[in-house]
Amino acid sequence: MTKYEKNWLAKGYVDEPIPEGIDLVAEIRSMCAAKNAVILAHYYTDAAVQDIADFVGDSLALAQKAAATDADIIVMCGVHFMGETNKILCPDKKVLVLDLGAGCSLADSCDADDLQRFMADHPSHKVVSYVNTTAAVKALSDVVVTSSNAQKVIESFGKDEKIIFGPDKNLGQYICSVTGREMLLWNGGCHVHARFSLEGILQLKRLHPAAKILAHPECPTPIQRVADVVASTAGLLRYAKESNAGEFIVATESGILHKMREECPDKTFIPAPPELTEAVGCSCNECAFMKLNSLPKLYNTLKYEWPTIEISPAIIEKAAKPIQRMLELSKESSSQVER
Ligand code: 13P
Ligand code: SF4
Repeated sequence: MTKYEKNWLAKGYVDEPIPEGIDLVAEIRSMCAAKNAVILAHYYTDAAVQDIADFVGDSLALAQKAAATDADIIVMCGVHFMGETNKILCPDKKVLVLDLGAGCSLADSCDADDLQRFMADHPSHKVVSYVNTTAAVKALSDVVVTSSNAQKVIESFGKDEKIIFGPDKNLGQYICSVTGREMLLWNGGCHVHARFSLEGILQLKRLHPAAKILAHPECPTPIQRVADVVASTAGLLRYAKESNAGEFIVATESGILHKMREECPDKTFIPAPPELTEAVGCSCNECAFMKLNSLPKLYNTLKYEWPTIEISPAIIEKAAKPIQRMLELSKESSSQVER
């Protein structure tokens, strides 16, 4: 390993200076063409990252796109578990992320060893894992779900089947309520969605009585209850496009507002406020991990083809099965926005 690579590893990304005066967007696009690379981005990334991507989507659509691509390199602008999902689906391709530090508090809330111990205590239960998990957790699971297809996947199980669902407790409770099933829920959560303020949302609703409230199922149950729709990011975008309403209060990470405003230029989107905190300048409805993706990092990642996602072949083999099972079960559930 060169001293440069050691330095990058310590930072988690390539921090070489960007040559002065270059057209970053044009250079990135030309490297993509030369290297046969595809850029995938999640709705929560910055507008500039979404705008340069070949494809922007929710976690299900991103996995579907990765599984179908004929590119040699997949550049995942999102968080680490999304890069891992792509690598598991495409083990022979080079999968790049922009910053190894772009993790996920929800994925961190479920450690594979803890899950294995819990499974040992409940040997007759099937394990359904949200896609926001590490590859090691997926490798222990019977099937993976995203917020787009969780209901459909759970309904594919026999009524008497016992299920451990994790790690997002709020999504789990939502799925229990819409399917009428009981499941053993892991007590994990996303720090962004957990912080939305119910009082703040109701206050906004009083100011904008005609506005529809859109909530991601990772929001706490009281927020889901006041929402007009609870859906994945792609589902919320679809609802906003199809609705006759002109105003929307959006209780999910605020990056999605970029695509909502682009797709519905005549409608108004108001980000739901987070709980008040002591922190000065806190944007708690932003996922700090997603915001680690930037155009300079994208440029360097493509140029140096680093950081790569590396997963052991044994874990890939085990984790591929529950992801493929999910993709089979959600063949109709594609939700995508192409450039
Ligand atoms: P989606 O499945 O809607 O893309 O959600 C992913 C996510 O990380 C939500 O916090
Ligand atoms: Fe993870 Fe929450 Fe960020 Fe989604 S918003 S990637 S669940 S930390």
